[in-house]
Amino acid sequence: MSTSNYQTEYQKSVDNPQGYWAQHAQALHWDKTWDRVLDDSDAPLYRWFAGGQFNTCFNALDRHVESGRAEQTALIYDSPLTGQLRKYSYRELRDEVAKFAGVLTAQGVTRGDRVVIYMPMVPEAAIAMLACARIGAIHSVVFGGFAARELAKRIDDAQPRAVVSASCGIEPGRIVEYKPLLDEALELASHKVDSCILLQRPECQASLIEGRDLDWNEAMAGAEPAECVTLEATDPLYVLYTSGTTGKPKGVVRDHGSHAVAMTYSMKAVYNIEPGDVFWAASDVGWVVGHSYIVYGPLLHGCTTIMYEGKPVGTPDAGAFWRVIADHGVKALFTAPTAFRAIKKEDPRGELLQKYDLSTLKTLFLAGERSDPDTINWAADMLGVPVVDHWWQTELGWPAIANCQGIEPMPIKPGSSSVPVPGFNLQVLDEAGNEVPRGQIGNLVIKLPLAPGSLPTMWNNEAGYVENYLTRYPGYYLTGDAGFIDEDGYVSIMSRIDDIINVAGHRLSTGAMEEVLASHPDVAECAVIGVADELKGQLPVGLVVLKAGVDREPETIVGELVALVREQIGAVAAFKLAAIVKRLPKTRSGKVLRKTMRSIANGEDYTVPATIDDPLILEEITESLNSLGYPRG
Ligand code: COA
Ligand code: AMP
Repeated sequence: MSTSNYQTEYQKSVDNPQGYWAQHAQALHWDKTWDRVLDDSDAPLYRWFAGGQFNTCFNALDRHVESGRAEQTALIYDSPLTGQLRKYSYRELRDEVAKFAGVLTAQGVTRGDRVVIYMPMVPEAAIAMLACARIGAIHSVVFGGFAARELAKRIDDAQPRAVVSASCGIEPGRIVEYKPLLDEALELASHKVDSCILLQRPECQASLIEGRDLDWNEAMAGAEPAECVTLEATDPLYVLYTSGTTGKPKGVVRDHGSHAVAMTYSMKAVYNIEPGDVFWAASDVGWVVGHSYIVYGPLLHGCTTIMYEGKPVGTPDAGAFWRVIADHGVKALFTAPTAFRAIKKEDPRGELLQKYDLSTLKTLFLAGERSDPDTINWAADMLGVPVVDHWWQTELGWPAIANCQGIEPMPIKPGSSSVPVPGFNLQVLDEAGNEVPRGQIGNLVIKLPLAPGSLPTMWNNEAGYVENYLTRYPGYYLTGDAGFIDEDGYVSIMSRIDDIINVAGHRLSTGAMEEVLASHPDVAECAVIGVADELKGQLPVGLVVLKAGVDREPETIVGELVALVREQIGAVAAFKLAAIVKRLPKTRSGKVLRKTMRSIANGEDYTVPATIDDPLILEEITESLNSLGYPRG
């Protein structure tokens, strides 16, 4: 590859990370400049911009109000599910946030306190997040599709002083009442929460518990606006829980200063977005994409962001995304490949596209799961713009592999997420820790220190951070993904090396589902595997061994298991398929052969592991998977 802008930038970031990031940090307002760009005194734990003082909310709102963007639209709430459209200028958003910060302060929330936010895609979710940032409280947003038990786990880990929620979320054809889920979660949690602030939505009124619950509107009416508090750049901005291999979610910590630097940098470098542009991440505030590219990235960069409460199809049709792009002049759209697969399925010839003027759209970005070349090619044909697959994870906070549109657009190779983003020294290692030759699959790792914006630690669990990510290869961060780098330096992600699966762009733990299945009184043991799915990328499938003597109808038990996962993890787990089997295939040491079962379900070639205790079990498993319709086609 010839020396290019990209190569120069990347090399600078790797050769002199401190100089590189100190320069990019200048784009923001610092209450006090850092003492050290990178504090490596506690390696392998690193802190960026140590000694600096900084407030994310000031930089995302007040700074723009003071420098000429007061009347520019900051946030557009577009909700086909409720028929609402609302726009907030930077001034209006700043004022709402300041008022809600006052509400939190009046509830005794102060710097360092945690606030759990369990909300649907309404502007108040972003307002609550920014209000926390304003006063130095640490927010922890929980995705609305999670059930009470998952919410309770996060409440127990984060130990919030307050919870902010809404009366309901709206899914096509049904209202999801949040309040009963919240009340149940608070019952289940051992941690006691002092106050809950509840947004009553017209679609459903929740009953409030006196002394604990406050009505959002009433609280706002009497609130004193709160000013931005000066914080350490290294203070936590938020904790976001993500799926690990067990049922216990991992609390990813993000700090104020380095996160804001990374966000601002990426808006231009990766997405080629300028202040004033309209940027749309069609995701949910409950996921990292929502944190980074619905709320913080676009606002820190002075853009207009869109909160879309709807789906790619069915609200009202597969032209929904085109309508939003045309109505609001979207320059770049970021979504999960599954959304495009859903659109393609309903409108394969793109007939609905003809109804809209999409001339403002310059790029489509896809992430969250593997982008299959068919989807990329279809989207590129339909839209006539570059379709950029890029790779990252909750832990990193922003893209680590991308075709950086604001540095140097490079040729797109469908199936590859392109090249490492400046700041991320990506390598592929074999089991022994040696770099593998180009083209060979290995474990994807990032040489420490990670770029600014990546997690400095896990919430209340530094040992867990070190053990999960930094121990396998000393000096490197373990991504948990396997992949390869080709001759041109392009990276392709092939699979996870653990039991995390990706269902419709949602990261889920099969281990968590197994824990739920195992809690059923009739279940002796079980395995959940992620099988390939044309629409959602992957779907969970359960294989369950019953306790001796259980003679109830298998269909009844399967029905109960499906209901149990929905009740305990949430609808978002999309767990609908399970088979009762006599035994699970295992190695002689007792390890369940999930990978082999996955290969059978996907119709892939596999070799019978030499360590299997009884190869005949695989025939039984094949029959059971056949009975569920796997392999497909
Ligand atoms: N609150 C409550 N329930 C929710 C929810 C939320 N915020 N989000 C999803 N659910 C429910 C859905 O209603 C569905 O319930 P059901 O089993 O009763 O039908 C279930 O969880 C599974 O949802 P999902 O996986 O989204 O499937 P779907 O069939 O409803 O929709 C797509 C399929 C492809 C249209 C949809 O997954 C989609 O829009 N994906 C884009 C993904 C995305 O934005 N990912 C974020 C990372 S970038
Ligand atoms: P999350 O933390 O929810 O963003 O999920 C991160 C995981 O999703 C990664 O570790 C990958 O396994 C997968 N992932 C994200 N983006 C991509 C991509 N562009 N291609 C392939 N896998 C991806």
